[in-house]
Amino acid sequence: MGFSENFVWGAATAAYQIEGAAYEDGKGKNIWDVFTHTEGKISDNSSGDIACGHYHKFKEDVKLMSELGLKAYRFSISWSRLMPDGTGKVNQAGVRFYSDLIDELLKYGIEPYATLYHWDLPYALHLQGGWLSDDISDRFADYAKVCAELFGGRVKNIMTFNEPEVFVGCGYFEGVHAPGLVLGKEELLRIGHNVLKAHGKAVRVLREKIPGVKIGFVVATAPACPVSEKDISAAEGSYFYCGRKHFLFAESYWLDPLVFGKYHDNILNECADILPEITDEDMALISSPIDFIGLNIYQGRYVRAGENGWAENVPFAAGAPLNAIKWNIVPETLYWGPRFMYERYGLPIYITENGMAAHDAVSLDGKVHDPNRIDFLHRYIREFRRAADDGVDCRGYFQWSLVDNFEWAIGYTARFGMIYTDYETGERIPKDSALWYKKVIESNGEIL
Ligand code: GAL
Repeated sequence: MGFSENFVWGAATAAYQIEGAAYEDGKGKNIWDVFTHTEGKISDNSSGDIACGHYHKFKEDVKLMSELGLKAYRFSISWSRLMPDGTGKVNQAGVRFYSDLIDELLKYGIEPYATLYHWDLPYALHLQGGWLSDDISDRFADYAKVCAELFGGRVKNIMTFNEPEVFVGCGYFEGVHAPGLVLGKEELLRIGHNVLKAHGKAVRVLREKIPGVKIGFVVATAPACPVSEKDISAAEGSYFYCGRKHFLFAESYWLDPLVFGKYHDNILNECADILPEITDEDMALISSPIDFIGLNIYQGRYVRAGENGWAENVPFAAGAPLNAIKWNIVPETLYWGPRFMYERYGLPIYITENGMAAHDAVSLDGKVHDPNRIDFLHRYIREFRRAADDGVDCRGYFQWSLVDNFEWAIGYTARFGMIYTDYETGERIPKDSALWYKKVIESNGEIL
């Protein structure tokens, strides 16, 4: 069987990680502009001020995408570049940038997939309470409306949020991402509810404004992979477990309300004393139908059924393979993640991010040889194809990332790109794996 004829092959990025031009052309500050300039927050003391200079080099980047045969490009819109204060005035230079980027993509036949929120909340809104404030979901809906009116004629695939687990979990609970807060559970549940409401309001606006739009929601997920047939249901149970302790990082905390219109029972039971007000109207809004789920998969674990039927993690063997930032390599995550998600939620699946941080360097021959990444991608994408063979509705695969870029709290110390970025000169060099990926795309995955 393999991938369907219309399977979408792409690469992904996010505004703050690649654009640079942080203080140019009327862009407003966002929480990452402020966070990166706070002493001690980024391990190499860097920021996205310049990043890959994509704001100025987008034409070169789109040309490279086309040379590498990409069919689609997933990027995010910087809310504060479009609306410097997060509300009200629209910045015409920001409009021009995204409009030109979209036109350039379409000129080469590359389908734009836009994410509205990849973590860069306008700082002005943060000062007014940010995700904790009562009206943040309306501000987000207004922003979605501006995007729909400006770009909806040309952009038909839109994701509202990227990885709420990470931007809330790391930004408001662990404090290691912007805005660097460490809040209690009650406030976190309020933020979660506001994010879900913002999503629901945006979905309604996008549907009203963009005929034929396809809307998705993207989660960060570390699938539990059963080590044998008899461990499948234990793994699935463990994957969707959600409780008071770690709800933010549980996909079912976000996706159950969004798809079923009801919070996970464990949340309703275990958090009853600290839940925000939740009305039927909220739940109807939050569960406004969407078209796909995006999975960002980097990490995972192996699981078996323990004696009492509960899942237990199977430890990694000594010397098990790791990427350059010490994340375990678990190719089966691209089978079990999509399969479990599809079985539970019944929505089409995209891999909206997957890729490997490797030790990339320019060799004497001027090229970047990354055999480890080729092997990684080969193993992972093959697993995703196996999910398609087993009946999962697999729609597309976006490699993270198009270019090496600013990796949040660890700055420029991790290279995830298909294309090498020389941060001194801005030069781009497609890595060996990018040329290999081109062949995968040409064969629609058949050479795997
Ligand atoms: C994701 C995130 C991306 C990228 C990637 C690699 O969590 O959406 O922005 O940084 O991880 O770590």
